[in-house]
Amino acid sequence: MTIVRLHPNPSLLAVSAAGHFLEQAKAAIQTKGRFNVALSGGSTPRATYELLASQPYATSLDWGKVHVFWGDERCVPPDHPDSNYRMAWEILLNRVPIPPENIHRMQGEAEPELAAKEYEQLMRNHFTQGDDYQYVKFFDLILLGLGEDGHIASLFPGSPALGEKERWVMAVEHNQPPPPLVNRLTLTLPMLNAATQVTFLVAGAGKAHILKQVWSSTVDGQPVLPAQLVQPASGNLLWLVEEAAIRA
Ligand code: 6PG
Repeated sequence: MTIVRLHPNPSLLAVSAAGHFLEQAKAAIQTKGRFNVALSGGSTPRATYELLASQPYATSLDWGKVHVFWGDERCVPPDHPDSNYRMAWEILLNRVPIPPENIHRMQGEAEPELAAKEYEQLMRNHFTQGDDYQYVKFFDLILLGLGEDGHIASLFPGSPALGEKERWVMAVEHNQPPPPLVNRLTLTLPMLNAATQVTFLVAGAGKAHILKQVWSSTVDGQPVLPAQLVQPASGNLLWLVEEAAIRA
């Protein structure tokens, strides 16, 4: 099921997103004893992470049962200004009582292909017992932003990674000056679409153009933008959107 909630400004969007995060976390902890969440990078989620680190949110959750992953990461060290881990650590994770072993960082400093393989193994060890697995609903919540070109996580338009059906994590190129550079790590669509809940956070008039395309345009009836390929197999899709992002 897909739901869209509109918010008059980014602050109220963050309040809605923080409440949603808590709701999803408490439900998962109650039913499974733990909450597996994949965080988004980018600027939009920052206000939500700030709220989650503040009262009453920070003490409303048993952070010892929260396991944090990332939907994608830049191939940079964890202390690099571009690191999605650093952003979440400084704004949220360093300010709540989450055990270090519950923070599952993509190793942006490692050789990308190796880092992708290692993160996939880390996820396998966390989510499944052995190799006999089907795409069960691994993540209880995946937060995504929307790129102005329609990308999600680090799945960019035209990327071969969009067609990946087996791997859970890939090292991919992001458009950089030639030569092409493999400089991002990303969860793949099968992993995103295996989640119980996928939630987009979209704010700013700058996203109005792409959001209109994501919600309305197809080619020969087929979705073409990465964001359109986020179709949780049996989970729910929620769009938390600032009103400025839907004005045509
Ligand atoms: C990243 C994100 C990326 C982001 C979008 C939207 O690593 O940057 O994963 O997919 O969510 O580019 O970014 P903004 O929220 O900054 O608009």
